[in-house]
Amino acid sequence: MCGIIGFIGKDKAKESLYDGLKSMEYRGYDSAGMAINTGHGIEVRKQIGGVEELAAIIEDSDFDGNVGIGHIRWATHGVPSTPNAHPHQSQNKEIAIVHNGIIENYIEIKEWLIKEHNIEFLSETDSEVIAQLIGIFYEGDLLKAVNKAVEQMRGAYAIAVMANSEPDKLIAVRKDAPLIVGLGESNNFIASDIPAVLKHTRDIYLIENNETVLLKENEVKIFDGEGKEVSREIFHVTWDASAAEKGGYEHFMIKEIMEQPHAIAETLNQRINEDGEVSLDGINLSEEDINNINKIYIVACGTAYHAGLTGKYLIEKFVKIPVEVDIASEFRYREPLVDDKTLFIAISQSGETLDTLEALREAKRQGARILSVVNVVGSSVARDSDDVFYTWAGPEISVASTKAYTTQLVCMYLIALYMATKKKSISKEERARIISELQSVPAKLESLLENVDHIKALADKYYERESVFFIGRGLDVGASYEASLKLKEISYINSMAIAAGELKHGSIALVEDGTLIFTLASQDKLFEKTLSNIEEVKARGAEVIGVTKDTNLVIEKKADQVIYVPAATDEVMPLITVVPMQLFAYYVAKNRGTNVDQPKNLAKSVTVE
Ligand code: M6R
Repeated sequence: MCGIIGFIGKDKAKESLYDGLKSMEYRGYDSAGMAINTGHGIEVRKQIGGVEELAAIIEDSDFDGNVGIGHIRWATHGVPSTPNAHPHQSQNKEIAIVHNGIIENYIEIKEWLIKEHNIEFLSETDSEVIAQLIGIFYEGDLLKAVNKAVEQMRGAYAIAVMANSEPDKLIAVRKDAPLIVGLGESNNFIASDIPAVLKHTRDIYLIENNETVLLKENEVKIFDGEGKEVSREIFHVTWDASAAEKGGYEHFMIKEIMEQPHAIAETLNQRINEDGEVSLDGINLSEEDINNINKIYIVACGTAYHAGLTGKYLIEKFVKIPVEVDIASEFRYREPLVDDKTLFIAISQSGETLDTLEALREAKRQGARILSVVNVVGSSVARDSDDVFYTWAGPEISVASTKAYTTQLVCMYLIALYMATKKKSISKEERARIISELQSVPAKLESLLENVDHIKALADKYYERESVFFIGRGLDVGASYEASLKLKEISYINSMAIAAGELKHGSIALVEDGTLIFTLASQDKLFEKTLSNIEEVKARGAEVIGVTKDTNLVIEKKADQVIYVPAATDEVMPLITVVPMQLFAYYVAKNRGTNVDQPKNLAKSVTVE
């Protein structure tokens, strides 16, 4: 849940390390640090706060050199504090390391280091044991010492290591945490994520699990788990580096909301061929494979889980195979009924969410076929899957997921239509109707996003509320969950989503005079029933904002306020209704003065349990 960066080359390290950390701030932001070999040995600077705060303590020109490592932290073991910030050093200051992940057996290692080697620990972190272990094993060959230390470590980690006595090399290791190498001209990089090096190079090595990398100014060697050198093809990044910058917007979140028409069109159009058929690159499920499947699990976390709720509806409707949607952290610890007739669909923007990854691995062990819907190319979830379907949303930086969600939804439609076609459970006409409706969504969202004044005005009116409800029926249930999560995670308002028909079974007790309730009513076939739910809560004093198609004017008679969205067929409405809810959350958070892109206690990539 942190970001690591390393640089070695003919140029100076500080600027590249700083740029890299800046572009990875979404991975953590409670403390940051750097270690540079200044020519007088390794010097470490670190402190609480994000990269801006770090900038203030690394300004002086003396603090620079040709090799260095950097870190941005999201605390797991130990509070955010200067001693707990990375880099960590060995007791003799020979070794400095940065680490992303968790060392599960750190207590055991720590006790051993204290008892056998009299090591005095300076932090409460699990990470410090890595520096101390390597320090103990170091006898002038950094690669050897790292390999020895790694043998002792259990858990998930990406680490970058430097040694005082070997300023011509950097070592990095990957186990269950993302790691890439950036290849420049006599300047090489190691990082947790591609945007961290894009300012300097587009040529990347994607590092595999259990691999170790040796970086020098003009050389990069990759070794597998057995220490054998392996070759790797260069992955050339084609997307624009500016996609990972704010481009004139105040926050990444609003930029990413505005990018949705384009992201949806990208995800969709490349998968519909000239004959109007769904053709899915990366998915090799044959007719026979699909006919063999008798059960589907969709497993994910947070926003991606909400995309799964819609996926269930679509797959069951079009493919006629039972689908269970599960929260990944639950799936992995219960005893799900998985076998070789099970299709397991993992959804993950980052492709690094540990809960999702471990659930996937569990399903794989039990014989399921694994299909993943992922945004980050080459991520762990993608690599561990049999079939991978990329969302093509481009880099999503804001912690609050927006364009990744709507593109995940697009993938759910496409997977459902693809499987239904192979299974012959959908007619050509029905498939053409849904595809044409899907293709109309980007233009509809363009028009919605051109006029956000009404939503801004609602945010101005209601931003001081401390509790908000979201209700809906059918496909509006998943959208309500997502709307509620969006609002709570960035505005810190206590919000709750519930199926409208379920309200009366308990939660309606919370409704009183002035309770704000968003009622999502985009499903024509359930519209009357949802209007009754509005009456039900209004009778208890609630203030209702209805969200519906711009053809359903009758809602004005019931709701206090209405957000109209462009009408489409019921099935594709989740792609449209959620967008004003993202905007409402954004403007409320802005009015409340929260850190929109980096909300408290959260990080973009959750690589811990
Ligand atoms: O990278 P993933 O899609 O696997 O992440 C899953 C969740 O952590 C993520 O969707 C989270 O809920 C977002 N902050 C929601 O905006």
